[in-house]
Amino acid sequence: GDNINDIIDHKLFSEDDIHEMCVRLGKQLTEDYAGKKPLVVGALKGAIYFLTDLTRQMDVAHQLDFLDVSSYGDGFESTGKIKVVTDLAADVKDRDVLIVEDIVDTGLTLKFMKDLIKGRGAKSVKCCAMLNKEARRNVDVDVDYYGSKVGNEFVVGYGLDFLNMYRNIPYVGVLKPEVIQKYVNK
Ligand code: PRP
Ligand code: MN
Ligand code: MG
Repeated sequence: GDNINDIIDHKLFSEDDIHEMCVRLGKQLTEDYAGKKPLVVGALKGAIYFLTDLTRQMDVAHQLDFLDVSSYGDGFESTGKIKVVTDLAADVKDRDVLIVEDIVDTGLTLKFMKDLIKGRGAKSVKCCAMLNKEARRNVDVDVDYYGSKVGNEFVVGYGLDFLNMYRNIPYVGVLKPEVIQKYVNK
């Protein structure tokens, strides 16, 4: 079947764990962005669950925008080629921009977004990610704020997908290997 229990091997970060990350990061961002009226940029689609919880812990006036620069497509391995699928609506010139991500893996997506936004004249560009998969990094890019490091496991839920599915699982879990195998063998 394809219910949660059929595809999740084990829970890695519970609802409470994620809430604690949001509270801690929200406090830090409240301090660091006081008076800056930042533009918070959600990286579609994975960031939307984390973004809505994180920003509700930020007691600082900010504006919201979205950017979709998918590199993985519907697949589960990076193609390495990044394209702007849906661009920002806002002008980032002279703005303090905070990119929100669900996860930074190789770093290619984040580096592309940071370079794009810096190139348009932003005053500052930082990133707050829920998860930092440091072991997989292959470009030099700062993850300025993050909730937790994560090992090299295939995680889904709370925005993280497998074939564009399972984002709505309310916690972060490790996918059962056989679920991945089923698609690899096809
Ligand atoms: C995933 C994830 C990050 C990125 C991380 O997005 O949400 O944005 O990959 O990988 P990287 O550090 O190796 O670039 P994806 O491109 O799958 O799009 P999605 O957010 O719509 O799932
Ligand atoms: Mn993404
Ligand atoms: Mg994805």
